[in-house]
Amino acid sequence: MSSTVPMTPRWWLRAARHIAVRMARALVRPLWNPLRGLAKRSFIHPLALVGPRVRIGRGCVIGRCRLDTMDGGGGRIEIGDCTIIYGGVEVLVHGGRVTIGRNCLITRRATVLTGGHGFQDRDRLIREQPHECSDVRVGDDCWIGYAAILLPGVTVGDGAVVAAGSVVTHEVPPYTVVAGVPARPIGERAATAGPRTSGDRRDAEQP
Ligand SMILES: CC(C)(COP(=O)(O)OP(=O)(O)OC[C@H]1O[C@@H](n2cnc3c(N)ncnc32)[C@H](O)[C@@H]1OP(=O)(O)O)[C@@H](O)C(=O)NCCC(=O)NCCS
Repeated sequence: MSSTVPMTPRWWLRAARHIAVRMARALVRPLWNPLRGLAKRSFIHPLALVGPRVRIGRGCVIGRCRLDTMDGGGGRIEIGDCTIIYGGVEVLVHGGRVTIGRNCLITRRATVLTGGHGFQDRDRLIREQPHECSDVRVGDDCWIGYAAILLPGVTVGDGAVVAAGSVVTHEVPPYTVVAGVPARPIGERAATAGPRTSGDRRDAEQP
């Protein structure tokens, strides 16, 4: 098994650059976040860690969370209009894309991951094996419960609910409620005859 000591001069240079960029971002963040939010008529918490490759829709509320694309990974995060992301949420993108739809609730401490280390080759250190990434997609009007985890490659269908503490390893069909580790269906959201949201009701009342 190969074992390289990473602390070469090149490693130190990269580490120093990484720290400098992070510190610069931390300094401008309290000003930049509210301005960025204002431009989209959204609220972005001044201390939220929102990376540069993150697109936030209109009317969103972004708490003190971490929506981050790792340097050099080429990943993207897209958040649809009127979605609420609570504090403590982590969306970590090493590569690939995370798409979160409109009108979603992503509750505190929920985590979305798109990648991890390859580990198949047991003759190489895991940390030296390349990252493997897959996109994650969350549809419109989804509720991701407290401390739920969405693993790389999963799709959560429109209107689905992921219960607190669940680990989603497979596709969640639309309007399905899933719970547990691994998350399994425990129910379905029922359809109602009338308008479903206050927004729909408001639209319906307009002449
Ligand atoms: C999913 C949820 C909404 C409940 O949905 P529900 O349709 O009312 O489900 P029920 O309470 O009837 O439970 C149905 C089954 O799922 C199980 N279950 C419910 N939530 C579960 C969870 N988080 N993890 C594992 N199993 C769960 C129940 O034990 C029950 O199992 P049983 O039939 O063997 O007794 C709720 O459990 C939940 O997780 N809410 C998220 C709360 C949250 O994150 N709040 C943050 C503030 S917004």
